[in-house]
Amino acid sequence: MSEKGEREIVRGLRDVAAAETSISYVDPKGSLYYLGYNIDDLVGNIIYAEVAYLLIHKKLPNQRELDTFNAELISEMKLPEAVIESIRATPKRCHPMDVLRTEVSRLGEYDLDANDRSKEADLKRATRIIAQVPTIVATLHRSRMDEPTPSPREDFSFAKNFLYMFKGTPPSNEETDVLHRLLILHADHGFNASTFAARVTASTNSDMYSAVTSAIGTLRGPLHGGASEKVMDMLDDIGQEEHVEEYVQGLLDNRKKVMGFGHRVYLAEDPRTKHLRGMVEKLCHRKRTMDLYRKCIKIEGIVHERKGIYPNLDFYAAVTMDALGVPKEFFTPFFTTSRVSGWVAHTMEQYEDAVLLRPSSKYVGTFGSTFVPIDKR
Ligand code: CMC
Repeated sequence: MSEKGEREIVRGLRDVAAAETSISYVDPKGSLYYLGYNIDDLVGNIIYAEVAYLLIHKKLPNQRELDTFNAELISEMKLPEAVIESIRATPKRCHPMDVLRTEVSRLGEYDLDANDRSKEADLKRATRIIAQVPTIVATLHRSRMDEPTPSPREDFSFAKNFLYMFKGTPPSNEETDVLHRLLILHADHGFNASTFAARVTASTNSDMYSAVTSAIGTLRGPLHGGASEKVMDMLDDIGQEEHVEEYVQGLLDNRKKVMGFGHRVYLAEDPRTKHLRGMVEKLCHRKRTMDLYRKCIKIEGIVHERKGIYPNLDFYAAVTMDALGVPKEFFTPFFTTSRVSGWVAHTMEQYEDAVLLRPSSKYVGTFGSTFVPIDKR
């Protein structure tokens, strides 16, 4: 409250700590920790299922626990028949994020333990949701190609199965390694907007499907996870490498945002960027598309010089997914297949906190409006 008794607003909730969390820490100086582990120590050393386990169980699994968890994820990948039918029936003009939002919500209708809100049931539910989101994404992609979705294989890791089901052919070791790294880097990120949306929903004691549905709708926006698709639009629009300078300077001259740049929390470079940039360089080298890589480096240089800001997760993630053969409208759904593990972890943490997240507002409307009946208005 101000001295006059007026509520002060914190625009955009910048720097407001809304709750405690022990799941991840976004250090403004340019580091990211999952349960205390620096992501630099995780990327390349573990697989995505280990990170999903870490987030929801709050500890890294040993080999036996990982094998059991991987098997559980694979067995839970199967979707209810009605959900498969519904995915196939969606018009092709719908954005995949629309379909994902609806179908995750529909999954709640088929949860036979819906009324069991014990911790054990929530943990099982969290595992099932982590497993089923990638299947929705793969099934949608395959059905839009008029192709069947292969069933997951027990000899593949969970992440490898996702790419296998999405593409229809077993991924190479290099593709699988890239996917593990990509998913690990996307898994959690403090109180980002979609996680906060999930936590607000969970804070009303609503169910996990509702929390994840809220989060999907929030992730979709271009200021958040929807940015990666816009990054690819921009790279396509720029065309040849020699057009970068004019295009990017033009955006900045017109006070337009360069998608995939800037961050609310980081004051230094986003710690995920170096991992993704390195992967993109290797992938472009192998695919002989180094002009694309050089384009990205040029954009980085111009934006940093003019605005002092760095690329965020979405910039190089877009090029990584493109190199994996993912169509750009599926970039944000790919992000979702990983961030869902963070959402369900935060949902369970919010249930434990058991406090309603309900901020206040500063009223700037009028008082004393005189009521007029409808026939007199
Ligand atoms: N391009 C050009 N200028 C920018 C950009 C950008 N992408 N981002 C921030 N700025 C400028 C902004 O214009 C402002 O400059 P000035 O002080 O001269 O007016 C200054 O940097 C501060 O920006 P802000 O809008 O106050 O920063 P914010 O914390 O409110 O916004 C953001 C953070 C991520 C929404 C914003 O940087 C943005 O819109 N970026 C583009 C969309 C994007 O890439 N989103 C992905 C976010 S991170 C990963 C994820 O969540 O998926």
